[in-house]
Amino acid sequence: MRLEGKVALVTGASRGIGEAIARSFAAEGAKVIIASRKIEGLTAVADAINADYPDSVFPKACHMGHQDQIDELFSWASETIGTPQILVNNAATNPYFGPMLDTPEGAWDKTFEVNVKGYFSAIKAVATRLIDEGLPGSIINVSSIYGLRGAALQGVYGMTKAAVVSMGRTLAVELGPANIRVNTICPGLVETKFASVIVNTPEFSKVYTDRDPLGRWAQPEEIAGIAVYLASDESSYTTGQEFVIDGGYINAG
Ligand SMILES: NC(=O)c1ccc[n+]([C@@H]2O[C@H](COP(=O)([O-])OP(=O)(O)OC[C@H]3O[C@@H](n4cnc5c(N)ncnc54)[C@H](OP(=O)(O)O)[C@@H]3O)[C@@H](O)[C@H]2O)c1
Repeated sequence: MRLEGKVALVTGASRGIGEAIARSFAAEGAKVIIASRKIEGLTAVADAINADYPDSVFPKACHMGHQDQIDELFSWASETIGTPQILVNNAATNPYFGPMLDTPEGAWDKTFEVNVKGYFSAIKAVATRLIDEGLPGSIINVSSIYGLRGAALQGVYGMTKAAVVSMGRTLAVELGPANIRVNTICPGLVETKFASVIVNTPEFSKVYTDRDPLGRWAQPEEIAGIAVYLASDESSYTTGQEFVIDGGYINAG
């Protein structure tokens, strides 16, 4: 019960990596607010986790590209459950797959809006409240290995993930004096809806599995352990770091 007494908020938790993190947080005793655009998916996840860990998960719809909805999410969280001391920025989008020079302007704007501005707005909402209330916090941003290396055919997405790495390093410095830690998780390929095109296309997935020392992609649960560690007091002296969870992929070849 490493997160007992803590309130956490996980974005993009109606499936995939966010769902796995929310379940692990609930198992460790946290109260977990889960957010994404569609309430139906969130409610199903909340019901499933609450069946195992009663009264631990609270769903709330929020588009992380819309500032008014982000403001409403964090006001609601503070007023009804408590200000989150753990924030996992995980909801992201990748609407365009192809050569970077051909990226449609709308896809560029949407990717930055959700993946960068949305992450920053959520951090600002949490950090300002924690500072006002004199509480410590742990902010965990989900980036990608494509934030650390070239991302052919996913160029703008890779840029947003690199921006998340930079955001984490800077905010760790600026928020450290308030005992608010900021760390970044960089997963490799994980079997989710988000990555289904790659996982389900042998031509793409083989490029990954051939290079990966473990010879496979990950399941969402394999990303949750590091999130629990970073959320818990076990990581109390850890901030401003990136944690690559990729089966050794970027280290190989
Ligand atoms: N899967 C991989 O191989 C991989 C690798 C590296 C990094 N990542 C990162 O891991 C994170 C989670 O991805 P995943 O693979 O778990 O994807 P996923 O299974 O497709 O889940 C994405 C989640 O984000 C929500 N979402 C999408 N757009 C949103 C928006 N504008 N506002 C709020 N919620 C939104 C979705 O729910 P709704 O549809 O209800 O909004 C869903 O809950 C992302 O940051 C992604 O970049 C994934």
